[in-house]
Amino acid sequence: MEFSIKSGGPERVRTGCSVVGVFEPRKLSAAGAALDRASRGHLSAILARGDMEGKLGSTLLLHNVPKIACERVLLVGLGRDGEFRDKQYREAVAAAIRTLNATGAAEAVLHLTEIDAVKRDITWRIAHAVTVTREAGYRFDRMKSRRDEKEPALRKLALSMGDKSARRRAEAGLEQGLAIAHGMNLAKDLGNLPGNFCTPSYLAEQARELAKRYRMKVQVLERDDMEKLGMGALLSVARGSMQPPKLITLEYRAGAKHSKPVVLVGKGVTFDSGGISLKPGAEMDEMKFDMCGAASVLGTLKAVAEMRLPINVIGIIPTTENMPSGGATKPGDIVTSMSGQTVEILNTDAEGRLILCDALTYAERFEPQAVVDIATLTGACVIALGHIVSGLFANDDALAKELLVAGDIAYDRAWHLPLYDDYQEQLKSNFADFANIGGRPAGAVTAACFLARFTKKFKWAHLDIAGTAWNSGKEKGATGRPVPLLTQFLIGRATKS
Ligand code: BES
Ligand code: MN
Ligand code: ZN
Repeated sequence: MEFSIKSGGPERVRTGCSVVGVFEPRKLSAAGAALDRASRGHLSAILARGDMEGKLGSTLLLHNVPKIACERVLLVGLGRDGEFRDKQYREAVAAAIRTLNATGAAEAVLHLTEIDAVKRDITWRIAHAVTVTREAGYRFDRMKSRRDEKEPALRKLALSMGDKSARRRAEAGLEQGLAIAHGMNLAKDLGNLPGNFCTPSYLAEQARELAKRYRMKVQVLERDDMEKLGMGALLSVARGSMQPPKLITLEYRAGAKHSKPVVLVGKGVTFDSGGISLKPGAEMDEMKFDMCGAASVLGTLKAVAEMRLPINVIGIIPTTENMPSGGATKPGDIVTSMSGQTVEILNTDAEGRLILCDALTYAERFEPQAVVDIATLTGACVIALGHIVSGLFANDDALAKELLVAGDIAYDRAWHLPLYDDYQEQLKSNFADFANIGGRPAGAVTAACFLARFTKKFKWAHLDIAGTAWNSGKEKGATGRPVPLLTQFLIGRATKS
């Protein structure tokens, strides 16, 4: 799909379809009213007949509207204008795209982007229209022997900015929206790709390709290198697997030379069987998604590079499988992390924190301005927050706030959870410095507390995306989250420095 920005009213535009909004009850948006005037009341007559109340997400496709240049008019319900917020805007756009995709129109003009009742600026409205449209068009059919759906006819979508004085801001929105959509698509593809294809070596290859395409520096550490660095925690997870573990580092440096980098650390467990503490069989296939943190780091770097954001960002991805075997780590085993701290592994299924802790220690060498790790870390986080928001933990309140605000703008929200020292007691071990699990109460918090023991030297935040990185059931598939949140956060950092 090709996007463009346009200005001006809909009446004289020759296109396959003009998309305009209707607020409840039966109230045309400005662009709708313009079409209504041009057609001598054709639209208002239809509304008066009761065919379109304006209920959010409802649609009505009209053909042969008199005295206007476009072939079709699509009316899209927006709900009540006083209740028209981010969520409603996105749902209205999604409904419009779904309906458009079922028509034969090859081109359309979306006027919903003009509606300022949403209380967001034109940059935001355009960016979100682009990401929502791209999301509606996402398919993962590369593992099917043939495609099961035919491609929609829609090829070109013009996004209306209303007044042409908004062009620069609208174009910024288009650029951001496209970059975020491309980053999300990369994260989704990697997440959806099954574990027999998406191995640690495959992720390393993908990082190398990204580096080549966008002129980033890439480094891949092998098992030997990790042994030399003393990454006993990371290596303990890889012991049961036939696939060699990797520690990937990608450096994007487009900021000032002296400006310290933001470091993103993504959990890359390409399949989490639980190891010797084997998971039950039901839905175990979904543990191919346990590398979605890593995928979000790659997706975010792609988005940042595409926008050429003037900032320094480093991605670190510890990646391995977690498998049982005769050589696998056993419950009760004690390992020494790169930090020198010893860990009693009471459950081999709490492996994410083990690979992250060494990656976080490794991050110290980049003298980061901030470190954010992203991980499908705990089932407990899914119980606490469901699939709506990601769990956010931080050792710095300003950083936490910044990420919350970025998530809000990106409609990829997180919720701040506590990291009080009082929880640390749950990690007590009789034999090592501490254990890798803290019992059932507050499982997402104790996992974050474990990581906090490795992040004392920098400002750090942790995103637990176990509930948000993929959908289960009929719509099973990676979501591309939290690429929007992370990219928005970096857009914010880039404009500040
Ligand atoms: N990858 C899982 C977390 C997970 C589980 C994400 C289910 C999404 C859905 C992680 O490695 C894990 O197994 N965590 C354990 C920790 C426990 C052993 C302390 C969990 O959450 O059960
Ligand atoms: Mn696990
Ligand atoms: Zn895991």
